[in-house]
Amino acid sequence: MKKNVRIVIDGKEVYAPAGMVLLDAAEQAGIHIPNLCYLKGMNAIGACRLCLVEVEGLKAPVMACNTKVKEGMVVRTKTEKLLELRRFVIELILSMHPNDCLTCTKAGICELQNYAYELEIKDTPFTRKRLGYKPDDANPYIKRQPDYCIFCSRCIRVCKEQGTAVLNFMGRGIESKVTTSGDKPLQNSQCTFCGSCIDVCPVNAIVEADRDQRGREWEYNKIKSVCLFCGCSCDILVSVKNGRIEKINPAANKGSIERYICAIGRFGFDWVYADNRIKAPLKRINGALKEIQWPEAFSFLAEKLKSYRGKTGFISTGNLMNEDMFVLKKFIKDVAGSDYFGTTLSLYSDTGCLAKSQNIEMEDADLIILVDFNPSQKERLLPALDVYFRRKLSRGAKLVTINSLQTDIGRASTLNLIGDPELIVKQILKVLISKGQNANKDIVSLVRNVKNIREDIEKAAEFIIESFNPVIFTSPKLFKLSSNIAFIKGKIVCPGIEANCHGIARAGINGYKTPEEILSEGLKCLYIIGDVPIRSRPEGVDYLIVQNSHLTDLVLEADLVLPTRTFFESSGSIVDWMGRIKHLHSVINPQGQAKNHRDIFLSVAREMTISLNLPTSQDLKKLLNGRTKINTNNFKKTYNFDINSPQLIELLSSSVISNSKLRWLKQIKEGVK
Ligand code: SF4
Ligand code: SF4
Ligand code: SF4
Ligand code: FES
Repeated sequence: MKKNVRIVIDGKEVYAPAGMVLLDAAEQAGIHIPNLCYLKGMNAIGACRLCLVEVEGLKAPVMACNTKVKEGMVVRTKTEKLLELRRFVIELILSMHPNDCLTCTKAGICELQNYAYELEIKDTPFTRKRLGYKPDDANPYIKRQPDYCIFCSRCIRVCKEQGTAVLNFMGRGIESKVTTSGDKPLQNSQCTFCGSCIDVCPVNAIVEADRDQRGREWEYNKIKSVCLFCGCSCDILVSVKNGRIEKINPAANKGSIERYICAIGRFGFDWVYADNRIKAPLKRINGALKEIQWPEAFSFLAEKLKSYRGKTGFISTGNLMNEDMFVLKKFIKDVAGSDYFGTTLSLYSDTGCLAKSQNIEMEDADLIILVDFNPSQKERLLPALDVYFRRKLSRGAKLVTINSLQTDIGRASTLNLIGDPELIVKQILKVLISKGQNANKDIVSLVRNVKNIREDIEKAAEFIIESFNPVIFTSPKLFKLSSNIAFIKGKIVCPGIEANCHGIARAGINGYKTPEEILSEGLKCLYIIGDVPIRSRPEGVDYLIVQNSHLTDLVLEADLVLPTRTFFESSGSIVDWMGRIKHLHSVINPQGQAKNHRDIFLSVAREMTISLNLPTSQDLKKLLNGRTKINTNNFKKTYNFDINSPQLIELLSSSVISNSKLRWLKQIKEGVK
């Protein structure tokens, strides 16, 4: 914990941690110091000079973005001299800026426009210059318009810090331009279309491609929620106009390492409005699926579950919210009289390790160790985690990667250990013990015969000894072995690829049975909930019930179809990869007659006069408890699942990619465009 110092800003007494820059200290105290190039959380570059302030005892104004607070400092941010300086800066920028505020899509959130307004600037006394650069607008997601650029370099720095490094300045002085390598369009660069550059650009130089058709900033109702498209479960801010989603931005605090969303989270939302949404319950009548009303669907489903009592197998996505999952668990037992329940999370992980992942605090993590764990922005596999690790690294933490092959994240790490990950972990344990770290006799015996330890592996062990808060991220297959390191020092996490896999695993839901396995055990009815990797009606099934939001090949072969809401249309909670409960809020009304999963189960139970309740807040709180015990020395490689497999990525994002404007990404990859 840093010591607080006392300063005075504009006559107001302010306490701020030693080392904090003046701009942040003032912001924290509710005093905004104008700035155009500062990026909270990153080192200042002092390019725009808009943040100049006066400090008592200093002759010239100083930049608030790179001056650290000192005990007793007396600061003034709004003197006439400073306002004059700021007017000069803004007038100079305006001399090279298109003068079209009336129609500009960024109006209302343009920082340049807002400062010009505050400083009462109506025009520029300098000669106007138009650069006449062509916009880069050939992709459906991001439009770059270099003519609006004010050279703050925020986009370049944010893209570089997260490891994509697509943008840079080309040319010199006022002739310079932000562009990609070789001045190519974004789709021909390494751009992932995450849109982080949109979020930081203070002006209209980088915006969503269709922003001009999506309404003005002040027309939006902005609602915070959580993206459930992957296991990163990023915080999102959804802008809604007239009941429709118009855009999505990250909702984590400014400057936070978590402030990121990928292209899927940002641009995939029109999946909600896709033509293949199921808007009413469907029942197979004379060989064809026909729309029916909910009361009929409930009583028919109740009848079927009675006739197949004890003979219905359930398979669900690992992406249900806690509330849905709690009700479903009871529904299977009390309503369907069944104990056949599988979830997709068991396809890519071990429910044991998901449930035993520890609750972690990443803020103070000064060493991150990735054991056989390779998130990737390029491959769209847990992209926000990839960004997270790179930002931690750039802000001072060490990153050690352990893999059998070279990886993207490995190339960026402080120490990239390539070899057999199982052996490397054991060698690290051996060094830790030899350097006097406390280990029990089980660990000592586990590594007794380990030898030939490389220098870089010794170095990794030294990093662990020197660090205050190491955190290990591991693949499921090496979770048990890597737990031994955390037993000596640090914490361990095994992130899953679906947003609520930790909540579901912690609720004690375990195992996955394929339809074939379920049917071979004499069951006749299958009840499938959400997106699961079953493409066609399993052979031998008597009756097939599918509960989903979108029409899929499997839905078309079902006997009864129950339309569900998407996560944009539901409220509830999940447990994220850090072990935190995150709350989702319904941001729009449901399409058609779609219902929450939990409401379907509760209604059918009522129809059968069986009592079923929503989980209490106590039930949800229990999901957070008791995740600190680590078992050592029970290492067994139970899963050979490769977390980077293309099938997994397909499973993760196929519905949203195929049913939204993200289709273009797929077509680009396949060389269609
Ligand atoms: S969209 Fe993302 S990857 Fe592409 S240029 Fe912007 S920040 Fe970089
Ligand atoms: S494009 Fe936007 S963020 Fe990038 S340098 Fe120009 S004004 Fe700044
Ligand atoms: S990283 Fe995952 S959770 Fe985050 S925005 Fe992208 S798809 Fe959504
Ligand atoms: S914000 Fe300080 S120089 Fe730009």
